[in-house]
Amino acid sequence: MEIVKLNLKRRTYNIIIGSNILGRLGKEICKLKLGDTAYIITNALIKNKYAGKLTKALKRSGIDVIYKTVPDSEQSKSIKISTQVIIDIARYDKKRRIFIIAFGGGVIGDLSGFIASIYKRGIPYIQIPTTLLAQVDSSIGGKTAVDLIEGKNLVGAFYQPRLVLSDVRLLNTLSKRQVLSGLAEVIKYGIIKDRQLFTYLERNYQDILDLEPGALEHIVARCSLIKANIVEQDEKEEKEIRTILNFGHTIGHAIEAASSYKKHTHGEGIALGMLAAVDISRRLNLINQSISQRIEKLIKLVGLPIRIRKLPLKGIINAHYHDKKFIGKKNRFVLLEDIGKTKIVVNIPSKIIREAILRIGE
Ligand SMILES: NC(=O)c1ccc[n+]([C@@H]2O[C@H](COP(=O)([O-])OP(=O)(O)OC[C@H]3O[C@@H](n4cnc5c(N)ncnc54)[C@H](O)[C@@H]3O)[C@@H](O)[C@H]2O)c1
Ligand SMILES: [Zn+2]
Repeated sequence: MEIVKLNLKRRTYNIIIGSNILGRLGKEICKLKLGDTAYIITNALIKNKYAGKLTKALKRSGIDVIYKTVPDSEQSKSIKISTQVIIDIARYDKKRRIFIIAFGGGVIGDLSGFIASIYKRGIPYIQIPTTLLAQVDSSIGGKTAVDLIEGKNLVGAFYQPRLVLSDVRLLNTLSKRQVLSGLAEVIKYGIIKDRQLFTYLERNYQDILDLEPGALEHIVARCSLIKANIVEQDEKEEKEIRTILNFGHTIGHAIEAASSYKKHTHGEGIALGMLAAVDISRRLNLINQSISQRIEKLIKLVGLPIRIRKLPLKGIINAHYHDKKFIGKKNRFVLLEDIGKTKIVVNIPSKIIREAILRIGE
């Protein structure tokens, strides 16, 4: 088991990573004095598989449990579902001291954090992420949000959890495609910040795909540490430090948006977006070909896509203009100088961006 501390003065919290560690949850919650009733937001699939263990872990420490299931899709990240859940919480809250547990992937995590941030101007919440993507990324750092028709994550707040508990055993029931989606973010951390992690992935990717607990624990701990360090220095993304986490996301989000978030998982979009960013870096002579080949090789080896069939070039180009990270009208990309070293570059000629997107077409 490993503990990563995310230091934010009075809002400091622990990220606990291990295999089969749900049992220690009750004790941790009691230490933090979060309340007497856990309002657990989840979906039916996760509840069916894991509610028994979670309930046991909480009841043993005298904590009451209430489960609230929401539909299993991005559509649960909505104002409508938030309102329904908040009204439900208010009904229970009269006689109890409620805190929220987000028990699911990034969708549940973002929704639950958002609800916790606005109900009574903020009540405590903890994250128990159940996807690899949520364990290495979305559960950490306090970005909470719901979507509007006008765009994803448009309504939200920075609101930190009081604890993150990542039990890699929960990943045993994930589909291969969801494992790969999270693995794309893990590869991203290696590329932007951690050469050693990148080499580890080159050597041990098969253990990760086989869900070997030691390998999973290693990568989740490593990524949690990197993200915690970045969030500590730039919690609200004001200093271009947190920005580097968007590596691969400008084109990646555009790929997801161009297919209305249906054809690709987030990780598949990011894998392709990272390859486009690598290609732009090479065209600008920031890196040489051996680095770009090494990155493409790893992405391909693990089983993530390196090319898109029937590339919707126009859709991707249009969508990338709407990137909310673009300041004014200037485009702005996180690029690479080496594995483990990024550079933020503005105003890249549109011809170069277009060529890089064309390159990921089949
Ligand atoms: N807040 C942040 O910093 C941040 C960062 C990255 C992504 N996100 C958000 O995260 C969301 C994507 O998260 P995600 O990839 O975890 O998707 P998700 O929450 O939709 O989960 C993916 C699928 O896996 C299933 N699932 C979850 N845990 C499971 C388990 N243990 N076993 C079997 N199936 C399981 C879910 O029911 C779902 O069908 C997006 O909404 C994105 O905007 C937020
Ligand atoms: Zn991402």
